[in-house]
Amino acid sequence: MDATNNTGAKSAKLSLGEQSWDLPIRGGTIGPDVVDISKLYGQTGMFTYDPGFTSTASCESKITYIDGDEGVLLYRGYPIEQLAEDGDFLETCYLLLYGELPTAAQKAEFDHSVTHHTMIHDQMTRFFNGFRRDAHPMAIMVASVGALSAFYHDSTDISDPTQRLIASIRMIAKMPTLAAMAYKYSVGQPFVYPKNSLDYTSNFLNMCFAVPCEEYKVSPTLSRALDKIFILHADHEQNASTSTVRLAGSSGANPFACIAAGVACLWGPAHGGANEAALKMLAEIGSVDRIPEYIARAKDKNDPFRLMGFGHRVYKNYDPRAKIMQKTCHEVLTELGIKDDPLLDVAVELERIALHDEYFIEKKLYPNIDFYSGITLKAMGFPTTMFTVLFALARTVGWIGQWKEMIEDPSQRIGRPRQLYTGADRRDYIPMSQRK
Ligand code: CMC
Repeated sequence: MDATNNTGAKSAKLSLGEQSWDLPIRGGTIGPDVVDISKLYGQTGMFTYDPGFTSTASCESKITYIDGDEGVLLYRGYPIEQLAEDGDFLETCYLLLYGELPTAAQKAEFDHSVTHHTMIHDQMTRFFNGFRRDAHPMAIMVASVGALSAFYHDSTDISDPTQRLIASIRMIAKMPTLAAMAYKYSVGQPFVYPKNSLDYTSNFLNMCFAVPCEEYKVSPTLSRALDKIFILHADHEQNASTSTVRLAGSSGANPFACIAAGVACLWGPAHGGANEAALKMLAEIGSVDRIPEYIARAKDKNDPFRLMGFGHRVYKNYDPRAKIMQKTCHEVLTELGIKDDPLLDVAVELERIALHDEYFIEKKLYPNIDFYSGITLKAMGFPTTMFTVLFALARTVGWIGQWKEMIEDPSQRIGRPRQLYTGADRRDYIPMSQRK
């Protein structure tokens, strides 16, 4: 590769036999430059091959930046640590959607707007009642988020900026209501309507844990902790579910359908399902003395077992969200008076051992956000099946922000990856009577 072409502009040279092509290099604000291969097929008749997109920038974006080697995460340039420490979730939502921190007046208006869109169409409760008693709440979320498009026809025209904005606010506002309903349905309790006097996260806790027969007071410490968890999960650039949302949206699908696609992708254990899997793993390990056995299994190439909550496609350093999460976890356990949680003991020791183990050091496998979030959410009273639902609730703003950015990008086209075909060559159909 050559970083400078004859005109002084940066380019890379691709040579194949006698022929060569100059490929433009584009630079971002921070982070690696990219080789622009968008015209490669037209010029060379070749595709690039990058399964899992480990070396491919699928789009240009101004929303979130991650430096995986340094363990840095910025939303619109602001470090995640500062946003989580000093701001609240709706402020982060505003920042991700509009690009700047809100003034006091803008924040008040945004909060008001979200608060006044939290109710869902009452007919939607019939969807919930149609699910099996033991349905996984993520199954209910995939369906109910998609079903929003059947109720809010006035915000599905993606070419109209006002409708796009209304759909965005609706989704940020209604996700907690749908998530709480999915939870209430799973435990057989009546749905609790949103309460406009409560802030976003306190309202969600109230919808989850209040029952009509007694007073429920939201703990400010727990509400603040959950709000922080939402901030940490709000966006994470072009991860699997966000890329799914962008790809779904690139065809012109309505925003509710696109977010439902994101929820479906998030459900997988390698992505949002990891906090549920991490907690299950800690429970399975059960006690500190069994940790070496599981570390050995994680290292064994012939054993598919992996330490859930460890490793990340992008972070090859301590996930900055995991550090904040670890602190929040201790705050929540202290508030709830939980001193001796065996799962926490296993987690702390597992982390200590793994961080000193050659295998994990060499492969740069550090705890990720899911390692401590499961323990925290469990202590708050959420069943494991709800963990990914909470992730989806928080990530909705990231999905919506990225979807909006894509729709508003004039260079946007339908996403259509190509392939390296390794199947059968052309062959003629054989009538059944002649097949062996
Ligand atoms: N335990 C043991 N070994 C591991 C682990 C693990 N958790 N993660 C990766 N490795 C090994 C893996 O076997 C491979 O070894 P080798 O080079 O000898 O084949 C090497 O490390 C690289 O792994 P990879 O699967 O090629 O890396 P990836 O970037 O494709 O995968 C990952 C990233 C997050 C899917 C993976 O680390 C993993 O499965 N972790 C456990 C699940 C988890 O905690 N996921 C949550 C991710 S953070 C939340 C989110 O963003 O959604």
